[in-house]
Amino acid sequence: MRYNFNEKQLHAWNEVLTDPEKKYILFDGGARSGKTTLIVEYMILRALQYPASRQLMARKFRVHAKASLWQDTLKKYFAPYRSLSGNVFSFNESELILKFQNGSEIIIGGLDDADRVEKILGNEYITVFLNEATQLTYETMQMVTTRLAQKCYDASGNLAVPKLLIDCNPRGPRHWLHYVGVRHVDPETEQPLKNASSWARINWSAFDNRENLPADYLAMLDSLPTVLRDRMLNGIWRANDGSVYSEFDEDVHIVQHFVIPPDWVRFRAIDFGFTNPFVCLWGALDHDGRLYIYRELYRAQMLTSINAERIKALSQGETYRWTVADHDAEERAELEALGIRTIAAKKEVISGIAAVKKRLVKAADGRPRLSIFADCKHTLNEMYAYEWLPAKEGHNAHEEPRKENDHAMDALRYMVCGIDDSGNLLRNLLLDSYQYR
Ligand SMILES: Nc1ncnc2c1ncn2[C@@H]1O[C@H](COP(=O)(O)OP(=O)(O)OP(=O)(O)O)[C@@H](O)[C@H]1O
Ligand SMILES: [Mg+2]
Repeated sequence: MRYNFNEKQLHAWNEVLTDPEKKYILFDGGARSGKTTLIVEYMILRALQYPASRQLMARKFRVHAKASLWQDTLKKYFAPYRSLSGNVFSFNESELILKFQNGSEIIIGGLDDADRVEKILGNEYITVFLNEATQLTYETMQMVTTRLAQKCYDASGNLAVPKLLIDCNPRGPRHWLHYVGVRHVDPETEQPLKNASSWARINWSAFDNRENLPADYLAMLDSLPTVLRDRMLNGIWRANDGSVYSEFDEDVHIVQHFVIPPDWVRFRAIDFGFTNPFVCLWGALDHDGRLYIYRELYRAQMLTSINAERIKALSQGETYRWTVADHDAEERAELEALGIRTIAAKKEVISGIAAVKKRLVKAADGRPRLSIFADCKHTLNEMYAYEWLPAKEGHNAHEEPRKENDHAMDALRYMVCGIDDSGNLLRNLLLDSYQYR
């Protein structure tokens, strides 16, 4: 074993992973709580215990599987045993297969395209691990489960019990994985799963792995917006119903950083602030009209002139169809003098929120019309923290957002309205050319 397990890991190992009655196992819980580490350790043990066995470790996207499971996990795990490489074990980099001397394999896979899935399903396994499984569909899980059919024996002639291992961070309680893995019911009918007694679940919190985490990590999780804190620190399945953008789902709307193709149209949107953060968002539209927020500047206590310099530096080599900004005439004039020409935003809040929500909904092709790069941390934070005021006399629920955590949200709204309501934009452009004449 590579690690000394913490108490929770020991419990999970003894009571669940190695229990032959438990074939379907979910580890759901907080960030960095030690789930994946334990599963990987167990899979390596199974590979060694059952000669010529196959174990699959899969994620939705092969690129993510390669970066996290292959590079960050398996390669790191075996780094101290380099002298045994090529002998006791060997890494096949192009196929993403780790082979052991006893003929066993650990195969890393992505479930993101038909060819790959077919190739994966062409094999039988004794262990399948679905990492970050909230990103997958129930159908994918079921399909992969049918491949748990390899027959392997250990040195004493015992047949390996096939195991499906799943880990994830919690989402809303209406997610299929909550039905299946936590409640052990069918997501459609809510009837108990036929194999409910073979299921087991362990719920984790980041506190469980406190001894192996940097001191400030738990404090960082504690400072997240409530929904995220409950999910990522405490491991609770919690919906973001109170959020203005309750449609927001990190499995759907967050994308990893990629290079924006040069022929996509780009935009910027600015919300002024000094005590509150000043925000600039950069967005790009693909040829199907999907908007990607690909960069953010988000900082308080900074003069507009300094922010302008930063925006220009970050924008080098790019051109924008327009840059939209909050109404403040003085601030806009200052930006203009510094070489950042803006048009005035459409300020109406509720219709702007509706426009953003419309883009968040998945279209017929199953994809949303608004995505945010994973490194736009402040914007993503606000997507959770931006809330409706509770209903009270004079207004109903969902009529007015709380004026907090709304800085990137305002900029986002300006950009979306600018794109989706070009009539309005044209008016503002005309007004602007008049104003600046
Ligand atoms: N028993 C252990 N001894 C030492 N380090 C450990 C141990 N268990 C986990 N870690 C370390 O703690 C960190 C988090 O563990 P891990 O990645 O397994 O958590 P996780 O629950 O899968 O988190 P996430 O939900 O973010 O994927 C990793 O850096 C891992 O190497
Ligand atoms: Mg993990």
